[in-house]
Amino acid sequence: MTVTRACACGKAILLGEHAVVYGHPAIAVPIPARTAVVEVWDAAPGTGIVIVAHDLNRRYRTGCLPVDQDGRFMLAAVGGVLQEVCPGRECPDLEVGVRSTIPIARGLGSGAAVSAAIARGIAAHLGITIPQDQLSDLVFATECLLHGTPSGIDNTVVCCETAVWFQRGQEPEAMTVDRPMLLVIGDTGVPSRTSESVARVRRRWESEPAAVGPLLDGIGELVAQGRSAIAEGDLPALGRAMDHNQELLQQLGVSSPELDRLIGAAREAGALGAKLSGGGMGGCMVGLVAPHGADRMEAALRAAGAHDTIVSQVEPSV
Ligand code: PMV
Repeated sequence: MTVTRACACGKAILLGEHAVVYGHPAIAVPIPARTAVVEVWDAAPGTGIVIVAHDLNRRYRTGCLPVDQDGRFMLAAVGGVLQEVCPGRECPDLEVGVRSTIPIARGLGSGAAVSAAIARGIAAHLGITIPQDQLSDLVFATECLLHGTPSGIDNTVVCCETAVWFQRGQEPEAMTVDRPMLLVIGDTGVPSRTSESVARVRRRWESEPAAVGPLLDGIGELVAQGRSAIAEGDLPALGRAMDHNQELLQQLGVSSPELDRLIGAAREAGALGAKLSGGGMGGCMVGLVAPHGADRMEAALRAAGAHDTIVSQVEPSV
C-alpha cells in the first residue's frame, strides 16, 4: 500500500495583525516547529474520501452531511483540491489521516496548515503538484468558512513558508532577512476566536473612527519600520516596533490579562520585544529573543503561567 505524506507548518504574525484587515501591511513568519501532517492512501472502491482527524477523534466523509465546523472546512479543502487536480472526474477513493501539533484557535494558523496539508497530500497522492498561488487561494477559501472575512495572511505564509510582507490586494513578497530572528511563543491556553476579535475591532472602528483610524495607521507605520529593521538585521529596532505594536493592539482592545502577563514576563526576562500574535483576546504572544536567550525566556513564560511554549528561528534569506 502506498502512503503519501505531506505537511504544512504553523505561522506567527510579527507585526500588523488587525490593521492588515483594513489594507495596511503585515509581516508573518512560518513556525516550522509545529506542523499539520497528513497521510493519504487508497481506500476501498466506493468509499469516497474519508478524513480521519486523529486529534479530534472524528471521521468525516465526502457526501455525508451535516458535519461540524471542523469537518466542513476539512471537506472544503478536499473539494478545493479535487477541483484543482481532477475537475469533473469522479471522486477518488482515499483515506486521509490528519494529525497536527499546532494548537487550535491560538492564532498560529492551525486551520490554514491543516487545509494546506490535506490539499498537498491528496494532490501528491494523485501525482500532481499544486502551484503555490493556487494552493494559497484554495486554503483562503477554507479560511473564509472558519473566520468569515480573513485578510489572506494566514494562507499566504503557510503556503509560501518564508517570512512574508503581506498587503491585501497586492502580491505577497518574500522578505529580506539579514540575520536569524529567534522567537519564543507563549500560549495562554485561552482559545482565541479570530472572527470575534476581528468583529470587535470592526464595531469600534464603526463607532469611533476618529480614535481607531489613527491606531490602525500607526500599526501600518510600525510594520514598515519592522521591514527595514529585519532587512538590516537591527533586532533591537524590530523589538521596539513589536513593543509599540502591542501598545496599539491594547488600545484596540484585543489584548487580554493573560497575554499582558506573558508579555510582561517576556520583557522582564530580556525580550527585545514582545506582543500578542494573531487575533488576540487569548491565543499566543511572541517574544523576540537575543541569541541563546530562548531557554531563559521559556522558563520565564512557563513561570508566568504559559500553557505551552514554542521556540522558532527565522533564518536569513539567501
Ligand atoms: O488567524 P489569526 O488569529 O492568526 O488572525 C489573523 C490576523 C488578523 O489580522 C486578526 C485577521 C486576519 O484575517 O488578518
